[in-house]
Amino acid sequence: MAFIIDGKKISAEIKDELRIKVTKLNEEGVNITLAVVQVGNDPASSVYVGNKKKACEYIGIHSLSYELPEQTTQEELLALVERLNSDPEVNGILVQLPLPSHIDEDLVIQTISPAKDVDGFHPQSVGALSIGQKGFVSCTPAGVIELLKRSGIEIEGKECVIIGRSNIVGKPMALLMLRENATVTVCHSRTKNLNEVAKRADILIVAIGKPLFVNKDFVKEGAVIIDVGMHRNANNKLCGDVDFENVLEHASAITPVPGGVGPMTIAMLMNNCVESAVRKN
Ligand code: GUN
Repeated sequence: MAFIIDGKKISAEIKDELRIKVTKLNEEGVNITLAVVQVGNDPASSVYVGNKKKACEYIGIHSLSYELPEQTTQEELLALVERLNSDPEVNGILVQLPLPSHIDEDLVIQTISPAKDVDGFHPQSVGALSIGQKGFVSCTPAGVIELLKRSGIEIEGKECVIIGRSNIVGKPMALLMLRENATVTVCHSRTKNLNEVAKRADILIVAIGKPLFVNKDFVKEGAVIIDVGMHRNANNKLCGDVDFENVLEHASAITPVPGGVGPMTIAMLMNNCVESAVRKN
C-alpha cells in the first residue's frame, strides 16, 4: 500500500514559512506586490486567480487585481504589462492563461519583464533553467521537486519517466529532474510502448492531461507516482491522470487528486514572489 503524499499539508508548511519570511521583510521595510491579470471570466481561471489572491493575503503579499473584459485588445493588455513592468512597487506579474484567442499568448509572456516573471514562463526564464542559471522556475514542476524532497524521496541516480512534454510542466520538469541528477526520459502521445517505458521509472511523473490514463500496467512495483492531472469525471468528482485506486497497491508513494500537486503550484508562486522582492533588494 502506497504512502500518500500530502500536498495540502506540505504546501501549508511552505506558506507558513513564507509568512514568517515576509513578516521579517516587512519589518525591514520590504513590501511585496503581485499583480494578477485575468482577461475574460472563464470560471476555472476565476477559481485559480481567487486562490492565488487568497494565498497572497495569508502570506502578507499585496495583490493588485486586474479583471479585464473578454474584448480587451492585445495592445491594451501589452500596455498594462509594460506599465506593471516599470512600476517599482510591483514585484511579480501573473497573466492568467489561457487568454482569449485574439491575443497572442507568447507575445504577452515575452513582454513580461524576466525580473517579474513569477510564473517562470518567459523564454529567458526557461533558457536560464536549461543551462543551470538563476531565474524563475515554472511553479508546478518546482512544486513537484519540493513535494519529493520534503517527503524524503531521493532523486539522485533514480530513473525518472515523465509522461507529457508541455512547456509549462513536462519540459521544465525534465530539466529540474536532470538538475537533481535523475536519469530522465520524457514520453508523450506518440511514444511507442508507453506503458513499457513508464515501467522503467523509479519516479513516474504524469502530466499528459488525460483522465485516469495511467493504470497498474504502467507502474513498476514500488515506484513513486506524481500525478499532475486535474479533471472532473462523469460524476463531477475531481480526478487526475492516474487511476489512483488501480495503482495504489503497486506504488510506494503517490500524490492524490485533489490535495497532491495542485496546492503546491500556488505555494511555489508565492515563493517566487518573495524571491523576486529579495533579489530586487
Ligand atoms: N493557467 C493554468 N495554470 C496557470 C499558471 O500556473 N499560471 C498562469 N499564468 N496561468 C495558468
